[in-house]
Amino acid sequence: MKDFRDKNMLVTGAASGIGRATALAFAAEGANLIIADVNEEGLKSAAEEIERLGRRAVWMRTDVSKPEEIAALAQLAIKEGGVDVLMNNAGVGLGSLIRDMEPADWQWIISINLWGAIYTIHQLLPQMIERGGGHIINVASGAGIVAVPVLGAYSTTKFALVGLSSVMRAELAHHNIGVSVVCPGVIRTPIFQTSKVKGLKLVLNEPPGWVGVTPEKAAKAIIKGVKRNRARILITPFMKILAVVNTILPGLVRAGNSRMAKRVERELRIKTDSKPQ
Ligand code: NAI
Repeated sequence: MKDFRDKNMLVTGAASGIGRATALAFAAEGANLIIADVNEEGLKSAAEEIERLGRRAVWMRTDVSKPEEIAALAQLAIKEGGVDVLMNNAGVGLGSLIRDMEPADWQWIISINLWGAIYTIHQLLPQMIERGGGHIINVASGAGIVAVPVLGAYSTTKFALVGLSSVMRAELAHHNIGVSVVCPGVIRTPIFQTSKVKGLKLVLNEPPGWVGVTPEKAAKAIIKGVKRNRARILITPFMKILAVVNTILPGLVRAGNSRMAKRVERELRIKTDSKPQ
């Protein structure tokens, strides 16, 4: 899809960070927006900014882990004229060694990061096929290409999104629906402060300026990737290098990860005797 003028786009997790910046960037290209998030204040102000760009913005407080809320969101989207571009972006982070995680921790992150995308696809794909085309953007992560110790559950959801996107791309090409998975690298958003940490003496802070890029820069790269119907959209230079190194020297990456995991366990783990429930 090359021209977004008067197209309808639905973005989850649009109150903040990458989702908000991408919604605004698509609005600047002429798209009308349906935006969803659990953060109502953020949604309202994003909608106001979209309207200031002269585009229509409809928002609905939606918890993407709740299928009934996604069903209501999809109904609203269809009432607003349907969806041409769907961006599954809502996501949360969790830093923990797998040995310290309970099933409830897994359920929490999988229900948002993975089921959230599955629910919107289930609700909206039939009408996208009927419309005869469109584009789906799934926001995964570098942790969906390279396994990262301490991000086990997060990585699980993001690898799943990368796999899901690959299959959807194959299945939907002949319906004129493009599918891109975004593996950004570090983008400077509030996710570093809001992610949960479990069982580790670890305080997540916003990474230093030189490591990452702004959400606005990420949004630009996403628009360019969608226009070119890229299968994978990698954003930061570091992410691009890491993806290449992981492909040609996977043993080196695995060895580095093992060393990192051992060090984290030795230096950062808060030891408990808790038994699995
Ligand atoms: P963010 O925290 O600024 O945005 C995430 C948004 O998702 C927030 O507005 C939050 O309220 C919303 N959200 C959380 N739980 C939700 C739920 N249950 N239902 C609906 N909305 C919910 O963070 P950011 O960085 O913009 O994250 C967007 C996506 O990008 C996430 O999927 C994240 O995993 C991914 N990502 C971010 C990277 C980064 O460096 N910032 C790197 C790789 C991936």
